[in-house]
Amino acid sequence: MAVIAVAGGTGGVGKTIVETLVQETTHKIIILTRSPPRQPPSPHENRIQHLQINYDNIPELETLLTSNNITTIISAIGITTEETCQAQLNLIDAAEQSPTVTRFIPSEYSFIQTEELLPIDPSIKYWLAAATKLQHCTSLKSTRVIPGFFMDYWGMPHARTHLQPGVFGIDVEHCRAAIPGDGNDRLCMTYSYDMARYLVQLLDDVEEEWPEFSVVVGDAVTYNELLGMVEEVRGRKFSVVYDSAEKINQGQVTVPAVPPGYTEEEAHEVTQLVSRLTIAKVFDLPIEGRLNARFPDIKPLRMKEFLERAWRGRD
Ligand SMILES: NC(=O)c1ccc[n+]([C@@H]2O[C@H](COP(=O)([O-])OP(=O)(O)OC[C@H]3O[C@@H](n4cnc5c(N)ncnc54)[C@H](OP(=O)(O)O)[C@@H]3O)[C@@H](O)[C@H]2O)c1
Repeated sequence: MAVIAVAGGTGGVGKTIVETLVQETTHKIIILTRSPPRQPPSPHENRIQHLQINYDNIPELETLLTSNNITTIISAIGITTEETCQAQLNLIDAAEQSPTVTRFIPSEYSFIQTEELLPIDPSIKYWLAAATKLQHCTSLKSTRVIPGFFMDYWGMPHARTHLQPGVFGIDVEHCRAAIPGDGNDRLCMTYSYDMARYLVQLLDDVEEEWPEFSVVVGDAVTYNELLGMVEEVRGRKFSVVYDSAEKINQGQVTVPAVPPGYTEEEAHEVTQLVSRLTIAKVFDLPIEGRLNARFPDIKPLRMKEFLERAWRGRD
């Protein structure tokens, strides 16, 4: 039994990973959180310990990791700012100094983020900072887990998910679409719980090397194909607009819907960013070296099945 710590295990992706670890392994699980310790929310979760940490104090972090015998850290910190980026960098430093920690999975769970994409998405610098630091950590094995887009967004609000609400390209609930480009760019997508299953397998496959990128793909579809699927599952035609590449490059995008918790301005900003990324084809992930081939026993949900589970029989 290993002791696995999930930093940010209180958040959307983190909770999904924690739940999957509880269900599929016998490891001890420690959630690293900035909040005071609390009772486990249900008896089912009595294998989970909450450990309050201060990301600003690296020596104290190292002591806590070592005294709790933590061997592996999965980071699921929501990284959107310098502060959150620095929190993860400090955790990597503490892990590198700890004699018990040997493996670190950085928070990423996205597309393959490279320097060349910085002009399109400047926040990529946060993920590159962690990846570069990990490359120089001789005592830590690490890999960047890449599931593409989470499918969950097209099943909201009905699909089982911990992710914060988001609407991208197609608002399935309200039967309308604002598609970036011509709708023919390929998007690799994975259900968040399926990504967590692959991640758990990777942890248990101790003999094998970890690649720089651990790509997982549940399905690969274009927006036009996805539109056909959702129209079939919802049993009606959607109203559809396409934003041309020219419009996207000028920042003129159509927001498909403002998700709960977002201002209109935030939704516009997110739509601009994701539209630029979509037409840059970043969600078309490489086929070579995917974890799907390494763990063929896992059968991830395909998009159509995911949509049917979420929407069949709904008004
Ligand atoms: N591919 C996709 O479609 C997709 C979608 C969503 C997310 N993601 C990726 O998944 C990762 C996790 O995202 P998420 O949406 O699950 O994150 P989240 O829910 O926004 O945040 C996760 C946790 O981060 C911790 N956190 C927040 N601010 C922090 C700070 N300043 N310092 C340290 N910890 C802090 C919090 O834990 P405590 O308060 O308990 O400390 C929080 O619960 C990110 O890398 C994100 O880019 C990918």
